[in-house]
Amino acid sequence: MTSGEWPPSRPVMGYNTWYQFRTGITESTVVRQAELLVSSGLAAAGYNCVNLDDGWMDAERTADGELTWNAAKFPQGIPWLAAQVHALGLRFGLYTAIGTRTCQSLPASWGHYDQDAKTFAAWGVDFVKVDDCGGLPEETTVDMLTELYRRFGECLRKHNPEVVYSQELPIHQIGKPTFLAAVRASAEFAHMWRVAHDEYPLSHADASPMILGHLAADLPLYSFAGPGHWNDLDMVAPAFPASGWTLEDLHNQLSVWAMEASPLLISADIAALPPPALAALKNPHMIAIDQSGEQCSTVIMDGDIEALMKPDPEGGVAVLFVNLGPETSTGSFSLPQFGITSDTASGRDVWTGTTTTLTEVSVTLEAGQTLLTQIREA
Ligand code: GLA
Repeated sequence: MTSGEWPPSRPVMGYNTWYQFRTGITESTVVRQAELLVSSGLAAAGYNCVNLDDGWMDAERTADGELTWNAAKFPQGIPWLAAQVHALGLRFGLYTAIGTRTCQSLPASWGHYDQDAKTFAAWGVDFVKVDDCGGLPEETTVDMLTELYRRFGECLRKHNPEVVYSQELPIHQIGKPTFLAAVRASAEFAHMWRVAHDEYPLSHADASPMILGHLAADLPLYSFAGPGHWNDLDMVAPAFPASGWTLEDLHNQLSVWAMEASPLLISADIAALPPPALAALKNPHMIAIDQSGEQCSTVIMDGDIEALMKPDPEGGVAVLFVNLGPETSTGSFSLPQFGITSDTASGRDVWTGTTTTLTEVSVTLEAGQTLLTQIREA
């Protein structure tokens, strides 16, 4: 029994194996993470999809050219695993790539788009991520690649009209004049598409630059996002806490991802998540902001402090303050700058729950620090 709207009109929430398990994923790890998703309360909070990333497939296709699983890692097979995940009330996702090989040099879908789409549908796959790792004819232009992605999406939908199509078409266009066209095309035929590079290297020192870099890359792309199609900033809580990220790094990431309405795919060992990290991932206000139905389109600045805002589905406005400067800095804003017309407002810190009465907004943040708030008329 699976529950919830599918395909979701809001950004997908769920789980992905990549940053924690890489190609070491096995049947028992996936079942365990799926069970933990339920027992931890994450599934009830909305994380309802379990996706296998690279590394699940066998080194060769079958004699009929079918993609098949690595039997050492998945002795009972992918259809069995999909059924186990479905029995937990969750959706099941798989990974492939648009060219001949995945990013880990395993077989991918080039020349087999219709066949693989049919196989995935027969296996009970609800979500398909299609990476771009090369392995395409040398003369492939961006326009040709875009058509390949469009065609793969059509095949996936033909065999499973409810499939969620996640892809990486724009990634290799980052920094090139073709980037926006790749995003625009993606918005026409995919549910989500990656607009930023992978999150490596994973360390506390690299977390804030990565998070703010992803934010800067995504900010101008708000017009491409909307119900059923979302800019994808990549997974959340990557290998947390083994990655060295602190709870504050995680708060920063979730705050940015929520303002940007990015999909929220947890990529950690759920058993290793400390209670405050679990609570952060389950924070209902962060989730409501992420799932509000729009990506932030308004940004104002005071000095080094950037304030991003969008309507808060819980009332008032959701505002994310970010210190873009190299040192501790204060930003001051008036209430009308956030669309508040009353003399006083209440400001709520999404992570601490602390509420303050405001007549103006003055925020002091350390370099790279963020603060996610909900501001409404008092
Ligand atoms: C690329 C993608 C990652 C992950 C790996 C798997 O790097 O961007 O999200 O899927 O491939 O090899």
